[in-house]
Amino acid sequence: MSKLKVLITREELAAKVKELGQRISKDYEGKELLLVGVLKGGFMFLADLVREITIDVNIDFISCSSYGNSTVSSGIVRILKDIDYDITGKHVLLVEDLIDTGLTLTYLKDLFMAKHCASVKICTILDKPSRRKVDLQVDYQGIIIPDKFVVGYGLDYAEKYRNLPEVYVVEEI
Ligand code: XMP
Ligand code: MG
Repeated sequence: MSKLKVLITREELAAKVKELGQRISKDYEGKELLLVGVLKGGFMFLADLVREITIDVNIDFISCSSYGNSTVSSGIVRILKDIDYDITGKHVLLVEDLIDTGLTLTYLKDLFMAKHCASVKICTILDKPSRRKVDLQVDYQGIIIPDKFVVGYGLDYAEKYRNLPEVYVVEEI
């Protein structure tokens, strides 16, 4: 049986999402911004974030998975669903649930840069910088969390708990 303990409340999440939305609205004023949500975990954050953004944006999604064992990230990423539209000249902002080793987003950032967009930046609601294996610039960093396995707010354990509105630490699996 899994035991869950609240780590981040809905209020804390909402306040951080609002702050990020305001910064993004200011930074991308007058630019063509495309938000790319990283599925599945990023769906809830993206949905909340866009409601705090006050400029026009386009929205798309990408879905990817790391090869092999998810606890030992290889950095080799398989694209399960690519974005739908041409992104040449667009300002792309990758919207992620959690950055751990940083390997997934390093791969995705390089992939987007090769597609000749105007810029590629990174936004995450949760960050575990103590786990980083690569030097990755996180342009919009949400809440820093300790090296604990977390679920809720889009994040899952075996596809469960994505719907929880708070972030929880899984104490027993
Ligand atoms: P990397 O290591 O490439 O991986 O930065 C980031 C992805 O790994 C998943 N991840 C987690 N998922 N609870 C989860 O449910 C966690 O504590 C956790 N840590 C990493 C997550 O999907 C993220 O996008
Ligand atoms: Mg993710």
